[in-house]
Amino acid sequence: MKVSFVDQRPDGQYALAIPVWSEDMLADRLAGLDEAGRTLAARAAEAQRFEREVAAIAESFITEGDSARRLLIVGLGGKRDDEALYERVGGALTARLLTSGETKLVVDLTGLDLDGEAAARLGFGAAARAWRYDVYRTKLVKKAQPTLEEVVIVGGGKGADKAWADEAALLEGISFTRELVTEPANVIYPETFVERARKHLEPLGVEIEVLDEKAMTELGMNALMGVAIGSARPPRLLAMRWNGGGDARPVVFVGKGVTFDTGGISIKPAQGMEAMKWDMGGAGAVAGAMKALAIRKARANVVGVCGLVENMPDGKAQRPGDVVTSLSGQTIEVINTDAEGRLVLSDAMAWTQRRYKPEVMVDLATLTGAMIISLGYEYGGLFSNDDGLAQQLTDAGLKTGDKVWRMPLGEAYDKLMDSPIADMKNSGPREGGSITAATFLQRFVEEGVKWAHLDIAGMVWANKAGHLYDKGATGYGVALIDRFVKDNFEG
Ligand code: BES
Ligand code: MN
Ligand code: ZN
Repeated sequence: MKVSFVDQRPDGQYALAIPVWSEDMLADRLAGLDEAGRTLAARAAEAQRFEREVAAIAESFITEGDSARRLLIVGLGGKRDDEALYERVGGALTARLLTSGETKLVVDLTGLDLDGEAAARLGFGAAARAWRYDVYRTKLVKKAQPTLEEVVIVGGGKGADKAWADEAALLEGISFTRELVTEPANVIYPETFVERARKHLEPLGVEIEVLDEKAMTELGMNALMGVAIGSARPPRLLAMRWNGGGDARPVVFVGKGVTFDTGGISIKPAQGMEAMKWDMGGAGAVAGAMKALAIRKARANVVGVCGLVENMPDGKAQRPGDVVTSLSGQTIEVINTDAEGRLVLSDAMAWTQRRYKPEVMVDLATLTGAMIISLGYEYGGLFSNDDGLAQQLTDAGLKTGDKVWRMPLGEAYDKLMDSPIADMKNSGPREGGSITAATFLQRFVEEGVKWAHLDIAGMVWANKAGHLYDKGATGYGVALIDRFVKDNFEG
């Protein structure tokens, strides 16, 4: 989607969107139309019982000069300080027009007194909502074919182009994440995940380091390898490094990249198992965020590490009851081979801390079904050993719309993961399943490291369209990481 910012409404054929804060603003905002147009638009708004709620749309047709124009009056709601508001409005307009036959949308913000940031975010929402992945469709009926190609934002004020540069970078990152998450598991597996990351990131100046199964075995990453050995696809550890911040210690993000999760020998039921192609959504978010940061040349040192494995049942697969010695030296009794994400992350986190000595480490993982039971599809779960870090992530979530909600940790939960035979087991009681998973991970956090764990099981894939995405991959986490870095690690 092409997005541009101009001062004057262009001539020619397009759909016109007019945002309004309130109903009483309607007359003012329509003042630029001719009398017939004003009457039609006002009548359409009335007929559709248009109110100002965010992203509500009243649609009509007016004539302007030689053009019969589709006019969309769109509500902005009442809360002007909600930063994520403008992108919702952009997203709603795209959702309405994407396959409508219209090729161009002009959004007229003249007189609304918005800053360039708001205009840029509106453009971001419009473009984000247009993303789709049609590479596997050989037939698309005409009605389903996207037509909207261009959004022109009028009167966005000073700074829109500059603000847009960052939003465009974010969009590239989110699109990359969505692509990785959408691709099926016969296309994206550990080796091809690495290949795609190289293709997208190396040209941008991101340094890439990869460990293969041999290197990981030699190092003693037996928790990750224990998951990997059931699959014919060899695992990878992918480290992506962006150096934009001089010699500051890097902030690190660690992603769960289970490219397919059958459950292993503790196999999952067939119903819905296809969803487990997106069990690499944490790794996908980390890779996409690295892309966004590199494109906008973030002034920070950031490392992204992805633990990439496929969890399969096989004659060589690990069994329930097996004991593995993790890279950290701690031993783990594998009660349930379907609790594989924590096994992968424990070694990935241990390696990351040795290699980069970070002050701050945040992991993202589609870790537990229990997280979805707790928070549904509205918030990612946030667990942290540091109140300041938790607050920073919460704030970044509110500002971007990638919301997180803090959950508890604590000794009583931690004890539930003790094993009669090893230092810990990988699965506890059903109750509080997301919390005990987090306490498991916490056992691999080194002294002095500020750590947060984001359980994003409910967030990376949507069964129905949202404000900024169609059904499918959401790109959740990219905007969160990008904003968290921008607000806390760039001078
Ligand atoms: N990848 C799943 C978690 C998941 C489930 C994410 C559904 C998204 C939707 C994870 O590996 C898993 O299987 N977790 C188990 C843990 C249990 C065995 C302790 C779960 O949540 O049931
Ligand atoms: Mn699993
Ligand atoms: Zn999993």
